Amino acid sequence: MDMKIRPRRLRTGAHLRKMVRETRMDKSSLIYPMFIKEGTGIEEEIPTMPGQYRYSVDRMPFALEKLMNAGVGSVMFFGIPEHKDTCGSGAYAEDGIVQKAFREAKQQFPELYCIGDVCMCEYTSHGHCGILKGEYVNNDKTLDYLARIALSQVQAGADMVAPSDMMDGRVGAIRNLLDVNGYQETPIMSYAVKYASAFYGPFRDAAGSAPAFGDRKSYQMDYHNSREAMKEALLDVEEGADIIMVKPAMTYLDIIAGVKERIQLPTAAYSVSGEYAMIKAAASLGYVDEAAIICETAVSAYRAGVDLYLTYFAPEIAGFMDEGRIG
Ligand code: PBG
Repeated sequence: MDMKIRPRRLRTGAHLRKMVRETRMDKSSLIYPMFIKEGTGIEEEIPTMPGQYRYSVDRMPFALEKLMNAGVGSVMFFGIPEHKDTCGSGAYAEDGIVQKAFREAKQQFPELYCIGDVCMCEYTSHGHCGILKGEYVNNDKTLDYLARIALSQVQAGADMVAPSDMMDGRVGAIRNLLDVNGYQETPIMSYAVKYASAFYGPFRDAAGSAPAFGDRKSYQMDYHNSREAMKEALLDVEEGADIIMVKPAMTYLDIIAGVKERIQLPTAAYSVSGEYAMIKAAASLGYVDEAAIICETAVSAYRAGVDLYLTYFAPEIAGFMDEGRIG
């Protein structure tokens, strides 16, 4: 056959395939989400997220050490408080659960990069991400609280804050309060493009943050929309966001690619609890090969354009990179 162009030529051996890879990954891009719970001696497995745990602050350092040994140097903390109220006061309390976690983590591991999820749903008695007026989340009133939460996390040692509430104007409100308190250098990673998704189900189980009534569709995005994603991202850029996140990841690769192309900031994606749970469940039944699925899923996010990847599989992915299986 007279065929000059043969795509298979570049696939003839492992060495060559690796040489011509289009997607490169690095462990420094991985962020591991963790649940920290009020109490002592707690290390309880989350039923809907096998292999993931809720840790009390005293047990947390062992988990962090393991994580760092795997080569993952960034974490995101979610707090599970003992008491909840209508305005989520545990979220900005000086001795709140997540504030205690930041203090302990930074004291024991100063080089660990600690990120705070800024939201209210784990701390409010009604489980919504803001202050209610009737059954509607009052946007502007919520902004003051979110800014306070972010400031308290930074004062406790957070290196970066990541608002996940989806209120309008929250990046600007947080930036403002951090700046007037002297934290001009603390970056904001905005969950700018966060869809109202069933993939958060296991997380809400893990954090006890399911809304007591209704849903989050009046603040999180409708998954039919992609132009709106750019509108959200651009607004957050204007308000001073440093990193733009898309969430979930697996079923939103088109959105990740769009943000990457159009927004001149690092792009992050959060592979959420439901993505983790589905892979774990299918693998435990023997329906799919767990390691292979983790690798393929992670690479798909990087191929779509992520610079930062938040995932419960962070230590496993770091291991597969070490083995040269991906990356
Ligand atoms: C808080 C928050 C949620 C997640 C991250 N931050 C839950 C939600 O919006 O209901 C989900 C993360 C996951 O599913 O892994 N608002």
